[in-house]
Amino acid sequence: MINKNIFLIGMMGSWKSTIGKKLAHNMEMKFVDTDDAIEKIMSMKINEIFNEFGEHRFREMESSYFIEKSKNKGYLFSTGGGIVLNKNNRNVLSNTGITILLEASIDELKRRIKNTSKRPLLSNLNNIEEELENIWEKRKRFYYSSADYIVKTDNLTPKIVLSKIIGECKFSWILHISICK
Ligand code: S3P
Repeated sequence: MINKNIFLIGMMGSWKSTIGKKLAHNMEMKFVDTDDAIEKIMSMKINEIFNEFGEHRFREMESSYFIEKSKNKGYLFSTGGGIVLNKNNRNVLSNTGITILLEASIDELKRRIKNTSKRPLLSNLNNIEEELENIWEKRKRFYYSSADYIVKTDNLTPKIVLSKIIGECKFSWILHISICK
């Protein structure tokens, strides 16, 4: 078990939650999914929060929760795709733990995202691909600059991505060297 936090970042559909749960289990870390935590605190679904309070307020809730929770150690965080939009969140990602970017092409993300009801930024759109592309273009510099490790996930299964992370990265974290960057 490592006495740090691990943060999974990436676009919607990049498998942050799927991989995060399994990785936390493997690393014997406590698991937090920021979206699930906010839904629980608010007793509302993410799309209801967006409808009722708007995106800006959601981002404030996300950031307050994330910054406070990250003061604890030994947690694996699956973050919401927009976590990198806030500068204070980026400081936490860059300075307080190990940040892994799960990267996937727009085609792959589109294939994976079946349900947009949990993703208000994509619901009611005819062209999800175009919006994913816009979002990626706006955020990619933040994703890249926040990441200690980048794991490409196209054409893989969650199981293979997990073993890739564990196989290539685990020892480098423990030894504090970047063999899998
Ligand atoms: C968002 C991603 C979602 C959720 C919200 C906004 C984003 O989380 O936080 O719908 O801005 O990319 P996932 O990345 O887990 O889908």
